[in-house]
Order: sequence, then C-alpha cells, then structure tokens
Amino acid sequence: MANMVADVKTVSYKDLGFVNTREMFKDAMKNGYAVPAYNFNNMEQIQAIITACQKSRSPVILQVSKGARDYANATLLRWMGRGAIEMMKEMGKPVPVALHLDHGDTFELCKSCIDSGFSSVMIDASSKPFAENVALTKKVVEYAHPRDVTVEGELGVLAGIEDEVSAEKSHYTDPKDVENFVKQTGADSLAISIGTSHGAYKFKLKPGESVPPLRFDILEACEKRIPGFPIVLHGASSVLSAYIDMINKYGGKMEGTAGIPEEQLRKAAKSAVCKINIDSDGRLVMTALIRKVFAEKPGEFDPRKYLGPAREELVKMYMDKNEKVVGSAGRC
Ligand code: G3H
Ligand code: 13P
Ligand code: ZN
Repeated sequence: MANMVADVKTVSYKDLGFVNTREMFKDAMKNGYAVPAYNFNNMEQIQAIITACQKSRSPVILQVSKGARDYANATLLRWMGRGAIEMMKEMGKPVPVALHLDHGDTFELCKSCIDSGFSSVMIDASSKPFAENVALTKKVVEYAHPRDVTVEGELGVLAGIEDEVSAEKSHYTDPKDVENFVKQTGADSLAISIGTSHGAYKFKLKPGESVPPLRFDILEACEKRIPGFPIVLHGASSVLSAYIDMINKYGGKMEGTAGIPEEQLRKAAKSAVCKINIDSDGRLVMTALIRKVFAEKPGEFDPRKYLGPAREELVKMYMDKNEKVVGSAGRC
C-alpha cells in the first residue's frame, strides 16, 4: 500500500507516481530517440510540459534546478510535480514522468531531493578534478541506488552558466576518461560536452559565420568506450529565431543569440544520447508571448490573460520538440 505522504518528512518518488530514468533510457537507446528533459519553475511551465507530453505520448523528465527550488520553494515544487501526475490521470492515460534534480552541486542537495520524492538526480562535479568528481558522484550513487533513484554524472565542462558555475570556454569531454568514470562511480547516465552550452547566447558569431557543428567525433569516441550507456546532452535549446524575432518586435532587445540546430539534435538523439535538456527555449517562448500581449493590449493586467497565451504556445513548442527534435512522440 502506498505510504501516507502528507505527514512524513521522507517520501519515495514511487508513492508520488514518478519513475526513475532506467527503463526510459533503455527504450530510448533501443529505439533511437532521446527523452526530453524540460525545466520548470512555475505552474504554467509544468502544465504545458505535462499537457504536451501527454498529447504527444512522450515520456518526460521534469527538471528542477537549485535555482528553481530557491525561487518556487522546494516543497511546493515537489507537490506541483505530484499534482501534475494527478492532473495527467484525469486527462487520460498517463505517460512516464521522472522528477529530476538538474545540476545538483552537493551531496546534501541530492540527498534532500531524493528524500523528498525525486526519482533521479544529477550530481554535477564536472568543474572539479577527475578524482573529486568521481568521489562525489560515487557518494551520491551510494545513497541513491538503495532507494532505486537514478544518478546522472557529468564529464567535461559546458560554456555558459550552470546555476552558479559559469565557464567562458567549454572543455570537451575526453573520451579516454568516460569508461573509468562510469565504472568507478556506478552512475546511470553521463552528461558530456561536445559543443553545446547553456543559455540563449551559445556562440559568438561574426556576421556571415554559422553555428559550428557539434563534435560528433567525440560523441562517437565516447560511445565506443561505453557501448549501450546512456549519454546526456545539456544546453540543447535551439534558440528559435521566430521567438527571438517576436521578443525584439514587441520591445525586447536580444541580439547575437544562437542555439543548436534542430537537425543536429535529431542526429544526436538517434545515437546513444538518451536525454536532451531544454530550458532556454521555454523561457524564450514565455517571454515572447507575454511581450506580445503587453504590446497589443497595454491595459491588460490579469496574469491569466498573458500567462495563458504563453502556456498555449509552450504546449505547441514542446510537442514540436517531441515530434521533430528528440523523437520521443508516440513512444508510450
Ligand atoms: O542548466 C541550467 C538550467 O537552464 C537551469 O537554469 O539554474 O537558472 O534555473 P537555472
Ligand atoms: P539550455 O539553456 O540550452 O536550454 O540548456 C538547458 C540545460 O542544459 C538544463 O540543464
Ligand atoms: Zn544543463
């Protein structure tokens, strides 16, 4: 029988209706697609993610960053996750949902998430020396696995901002390290650095220059060393020009933005890449639609009237990602 969750401090994700990522990745690996990992910080984002993934019959990883926990309150976010599961049941046949900590930076944060109902955590010690990264990741795995929670580690550093850690330049993952890392830590999946980066300004391009291709050679070399092991891509927003144009048209100022071309992500999703992280594209959609409403209806002051259209557009964008980018639509 499921535990009563309302009065206990520690709760298993199983009682909240989440799943870990193990079976998700197995299916993704077998069938050549990636599971989308979408970040949320508020109600409209989680509603849109769940609605889109249920409509397109896609498994989904709901990601919560440390910043999201600080912003929205850890307890509230966890219950929003649970609320989303209940909402989905009312909407029809549920799809598998994992609740995942994005860029956990300490053992204590990972433990707190595991204890409060997360089914999966990332420990990101990629900015530390290899041995320290291994030791911390292993410590998280040793706490997570007896609770059947899956763990994502990271090797290599992405440019851009990962919560409080920011790097000017990316340091590609060295394929020579991946086998030892996976063996020594027992992690369930591995984020690698092959040229993606966080945020809406991924590349500094001079006029006429185009986005440099992802380093598929590094991805292939990693795959050879850890065959069948799930690989994760962070920083995978495409920074869609339609929304950048809308933002700029309606009073915003976002110049020199660039993202990862969708066809490169599609190619990656067909390989051992089993999880693709997208946050910035959702932020851009919300900003664009809210700006549009404000510009067209300057007297509007009911949040439902500007958050509603943003939520509707988010559903479309996530469905599009599932169908055309990560290839997860129709898989469950
Ligand atoms: O990789 C970072 C994610 O986009 C989360 O961003 O730390 O601002 O919530 P955040
Ligand atoms: P983007 O900034 O490209 O959306 O990346 C999100 C991410 O990697 C979350 O961990
Ligand atoms: Zn990330």
